[in-house]
Amino acid sequence: MTGPIEIVRTVADLRARVAGWHADGETVAMVPTMGAIHDGHMALVRQARTLADRVVASIFVNPLQFGQNEDFNAYPRGEARDAALLAEAGAVLLFAPNAAEMYPDGFATTVHVGGLTDGLCGTSRPTHFDGVATVVAKLLLQCGPDVAIFGEKDYQQLLVIKRLVRDLDIPVEIVGGAIVRENDGLALSSRNAYLSAKEREAAPLLHTAIRQAAAEVAAGQTIELALESARAAIEAAGFRIDYLEVRDPKTLELLSGTVGEARILVAAFLGKTRLIDNVPVPPQA
Ligand code: PAF
Repeated sequence: MTGPIEIVRTVADLRARVAGWHADGETVAMVPTMGAIHDGHMALVRQARTLADRVVASIFVNPLQFGQNEDFNAYPRGEARDAALLAEAGAVLLFAPNAAEMYPDGFATTVHVGGLTDGLCGTSRPTHFDGVATVVAKLLLQCGPDVAIFGEKDYQQLLVIKRLVRDLDIPVEIVGGAIVRENDGLALSSRNAYLSAKEREAAPLLHTAIRQAAAEVAAGQTIELALESARAAIEAAGFRIDYLEVRDPKTLELLSGTVGEARILVAAFLGKTRLIDNVPVPPQA
């Protein structure tokens, strides 16, 4: 069942809607987003519908999670289009606060998740995960959903959010949503819109290379040799690698040698666009 979507802009209105559903015995799932809705977000909303009676999506381009020289101003915005797509996927309520509602004058609290945020994106984007953890803690406390869904494309983010919810006793179940890919393997991302036609052609090579490395590691190759081939393939496609690593899928501990289960994670620039991707070891069918 899909229908119109109601838009609320204040925490008070959001809480009133969710409290009404809970009072009627209905369960609520939340899908937090920064807008620029694509099929990956819509898949999260569809997944959310299978887990709860009502789906609330949020759109907030969170200034705290962008570094000084990053794309906060350029980040694609278009609420009417986004709202229509979220409704089509089955969300019934959109929480779209402005910056003053989220960060009123005098806002002075930062949520920091230690350990898990130290490497990978945490190294090249040192303030990013504090911004994510702070806004996600707020969104979950504002909405009070029974379950919240975050995409596995941001794999480190997903683990950080699971940890923050556990550590702060926020009463919500965090569920990961599988990465949605274009037919050629490129993971869907709002930032794909920045790619030129030539870059778009090269972009799927990132996934091809880490998938190949995952197959090699699963077949008993050492991580070092598998990554050497992947690095060469990614650079030959025109990328500048930020990181390419194999980590424990639960703790994100850096792995080496031969392993059974792992996650291969990559971030790389194609021109000015920074793309991230990850795959499991052993690879999924
Ligand atoms: O993944 C995102 O879109 C954002 O990091 C999130 C979780 C909505 C927080 O702003």
